[in-house]
Amino acid sequence: MKKNTKLYETAAALLERGKGILAADESDATAGKRLAMVHLPNEPENRQDFREILFTASDIENYLSGVIMYDSSIKNNTDDGIPFADVLTAKGIVPGIKVDLGARELEGFKGEVVTQGLDNLAERFAEYYDLGARFAKWRMVVTIDESETPTDESIRINSIMLARYAQIAQAAGIVPIVEPEVIHAGDHSLQRAEMVTTRTLQILFQTLIEFKVDLAGLILKSSMVLAGDVHAEQTTPEEVANATLRTFHMSVPHECAGIVFLSGGQTPERSTKNLNAIAKMGEQPWPITFSFSRALEEPVLKAWGGKPENADKAKAALLERCKANSEASLGKA
Ligand code: 13P
Repeated sequence: MKKNTKLYETAAALLERGKGILAADESDATAGKRLAMVHLPNEPENRQDFREILFTASDIENYLSGVIMYDSSIKNNTDDGIPFADVLTAKGIVPGIKVDLGARELEGFKGEVVTQGLDNLAERFAEYYDLGARFAKWRMVVTIDESETPTDESIRINSIMLARYAQIAQAAGIVPIVEPEVIHAGDHSLQRAEMVTTRTLQILFQTLIEFKVDLAGLILKSSMVLAGDVHAEQTTPEEVANATLRTFHMSVPHECAGIVFLSGGQTPERSTKNLNAIAKMGEQPWPITFSFSRALEEPVLKAWGGKPENADKAKAALLERCKANSEASLGKA
């Protein structure tokens, strides 16, 4: 396999110690759900204003190595006409792009879905590269149900999609983040979450290897391993740390460039505490840090509330969460 040192440099920059990634890559529809939390209509101006607050906040580059954007935001500008991607690049933050087009029903497999978006992906990557993107994200959805879900078949087909996406990304000089999200919502136990996450990651990495994806130029974005959000017995940070690291040691090859976490609907504080507990377990074969969306953005939205006069307060809220998660990634929160 041809080694692509550019990919390794990008991956190393994204995984710099003490920094993490902001996932500001909501589709326009999902961005609408965020805005609805503060009773704002889902209009392009509101989406732009919110992203401008996120991307122009002072000093975030001390804690953020990368920001994942969405098609409509990587093509958008600040009010002064500076492309968002250029704002980030000027701060030394690597711009990224979510390229999957969401999930559709997997016929024959009740409740399971398969992620779309491979058509014309090479052409889309060429365009995103020109706009400044140097890494990308593709998410597969894994839902835990009573006993049968997820099936190996749904994990396998989604893993093949992820492998194909990762091949095309690497050929375009873009570091792929592969994100199998094991959904936190539900009544499943910690043990079941651990079993499902381990199985998912084992199938995913086996598939990535079979399809000759260069793991040294790839980042895993994972859920933390914890019981479902409505399960009677909730998981402590120490239990999350043990189960999550056990899962990774059973499934993630050491060549993988690094691992970042999604927050998955946990509160900002809980996400940070769990990350801190994981980091406190000591050095692992891979750099490990955060790539949160809701856990970073929700306090910002609340501080902003759509009012221009609150913009500075909102930027301060982002900086505060970024700093807390930076410290947590070092086990010092
Ligand atoms: P959350 O941190 O809100 O789970 O989002 C991360 C993400 O990128 C989901 O695809």
